[in-house]
Amino acid sequence: MTPSQPRLLVVDDEADVRYSFRRLFEKADYDIAEAASGEQAIAMVRAEAPDVILMDIRMPGADGIATLREIRAFDPRTPVILMTAYSSTQSTIEAMKAGAFDYVLKPFEIGKIRTVVQAAVKVSRDMRQVVSYQPLLSREQHAEEIVGTSGPMQEVYKLIGRVSNSDLPVLITGESGTGKELVARAIYHHSRRSQKPFLAVNCSAIPEQLLESELFGYLRGAFTGALSGKPGKFEVCDGGTIFLDEIGDMPPATQSKLLRVLESGEIEKIGSTRSTRVDVRVMAATNRNLGEAIEKGSFRADLFYRLRVVEIALPALRDRLDDLPMLVDYFLSRYASLMGLEKVAVDDRAIAALRSHPFPGNVRELENLIKNCLVRLHGNVLRAEDLEFSHPAGGAAAPAFPGNLAEESVFDVLFQEIARRQPLPEGMDAFDIVEKKLIVRALEQCDGNQSRASRFLGITRNTLRKRVRKYGLKIDRSVTEGEAGED
Ligand SMILES: Nc1ncnc2c1ncn2[C@@H]1O[C@H](COP(=O)(O)OP(=O)(O)OP(=O)(O)O)[C@@H](O)[C@H]1O
Ligand SMILES: [Mg+2]
Repeated sequence: MTPSQPRLLVVDDEADVRYSFRRLFEKADYDIAEAASGEQAIAMVRAEAPDVILMDIRMPGADGIATLREIRAFDPRTPVILMTAYSSTQSTIEAMKAGAFDYVLKPFEIGKIRTVVQAAVKVSRDMRQVVSYQPLLSREQHAEEIVGTSGPMQEVYKLIGRVSNSDLPVLITGESGTGKELVARAIYHHSRRSQKPFLAVNCSAIPEQLLESELFGYLRGAFTGALSGKPGKFEVCDGGTIFLDEIGDMPPATQSKLLRVLESGEIEKIGSTRSTRVDVRVMAATNRNLGEAIEKGSFRADLFYRLRVVEIALPALRDRLDDLPMLVDYFLSRYASLMGLEKVAVDDRAIAALRSHPFPGNVRELENLIKNCLVRLHGNVLRAEDLEFSHPAGGAAAPAFPGNLAEESVFDVLFQEIARRQPLPEGMDAFDIVEKKLIVRALEQCDGNQSRASRFLGITRNTLRKRVRKYGLKIDRSVTEGEAGED
């Protein structure tokens, strides 16, 4: 299950543009294919199934938009990012209407392109990574699995089976880390829309002012700075499935608009008076108690009932402890193979210790715990002493563990570090700073063992060796940061 290199197809008639993208993305460990025309691109998409396509609009022969239309007709799931010049706003709108994932403007901003491509790779892989809720015949099958055979999980599987083939909205509830997103993706994979796009929108991660334009799009001139129009996720996702994560955090104005979409199947772009029909299945998830939010007036009751035509309530891990050994086994074999370790066994005392832990962060917490143990483990038995809980055992379980907090604070720390080091040392960009930290950390955790560290990081040994040299790291049993590459 080692994540393979993401495959990017660059389509441009100009060889030097293709060459600069090749250099940029090969550095970031992408596998690059090039096509010099739309016709060639179509053949390559069929033959090589890239994760993401980056394509110029203006090309002789079939232009980017015509090519995009043709690709979408046989493969609507591969995200296509179009490249366009500032002047051609009209073609931009047309491009997005034809189903482009996003567009990037010339002259190119490297950082922006990287971000857009990365996001597209994630979306592309999530669409293809099948999520199964039936036990797989063999682990070799390339699928993620929802693990658990306890009574409460059987109920969940029944519901997934029942709703998959309908277009009904589904509301998935449960504490943080219980697998809500996994369930949403399983429903998608078993639905008749599985060959169409699946887009997830995290309502709490997008600033309030942006969420509405993300979802519904806007017309050119709809607000200051809207130099060109942009379709929203609903339009891009036409025929597919949209997953509104953390719906409890959706601001009231957006809630009203969403309600209208659910009632009429039509969206209205910001700045437009006309509405457009869309055919999108909506799923939503939240770890909040929406009943309380309705009482407090922060969530609309009518929207709640519209969304909750079917509700799938995921059990907390502490309420399905029978599944614990199976989950431990699943994560152990998954991460051991990812890190290149032999199979690791668990002793009974470790299982007993895990059973008495409340797991406020549920399956995600268990998964992280096992991952961390494996990185530090000597030998191939996981013992009770090896377990390091991030929350004290025995204490009352916090009802809603804020899953994103930790992640956010990591970013805050990195941001501060990058800010502190302005202007950045020559030859180092912000990504290098983050990368260097990650590499040092991974090497430390693996006691300087480069093959384990490279497997953990999902890069080749060769790449790791190059980076070690670039950042002037010295490896013996402990890793020290040199200053090379910083000045
Ligand atoms: N039943 C399960 N079997 C296997 N893995 C699971 C299961 N439930 C959750 N996971 C794993 O736990 C992690 C968290 O799952 P997921 O992101 O779906 O949770 P969530 O309910 O959406 O959490 P949050 O509310 O914090 O967003 C993921 O890595 C997922 O693969
Ligand atoms: Mg989630």
